[in-house]
Amino acid sequence: MDRELFDRASVVRGRAHAPYSRFLVGAAVRTEAGTVHVGANVENASYPEGWCAETSAIAAMVAAGAPGPERRIAAVCVVAERIDGRPTTPCGGCRQRLVEFAGPDTPVHAIDPDGEGQTFLMKDLLPAAFGKEKTS
Ligand code: THU
Repeated sequence: MDRELFDRASVVRGRAHAPYSRFLVGAAVRTEAGTVHVGANVENASYPEGWCAETSAIAAMVAAGAPGPERRIAAVCVVAERIDGRPTTPCGGCRQRLVEFAGPDTPVHAIDPDGEGQTFLMKDLLPAAFGKEKTS
């Protein structure tokens, strides 16, 4: 677990716009440069138009930092309620979005609001990922 990322993700989770599912999610990413970016899920009355917390955090990172270490993800933390007793992990689409900026050994902390959870590696969440070698 990564206390700083958990704290940042927990705070932004409280700002999620999730009136339809009521499933609040906060995400925090730390870049290789050490900067932390956060995001929450943003739902919409037209349900498919909503997006995930991880996607928001990636967008914040891209908006803030130039290509290079400021745009490479060194660690991820997702904070949400457990589902069927298991920590919430990024959805399939977000795994692909994360891998665009992360490496196979990047840790992804899936943590519940009490600070308990599990740490996965990107390569275990998305084995045989689609994409070319990183260029940035
Ligand atoms: N959600 C996330 O923000 N991240 C995840 O990793 C899983 C799902 C959001 C999408 C939707 O707003 C709500 O959780 C319920 O699926």
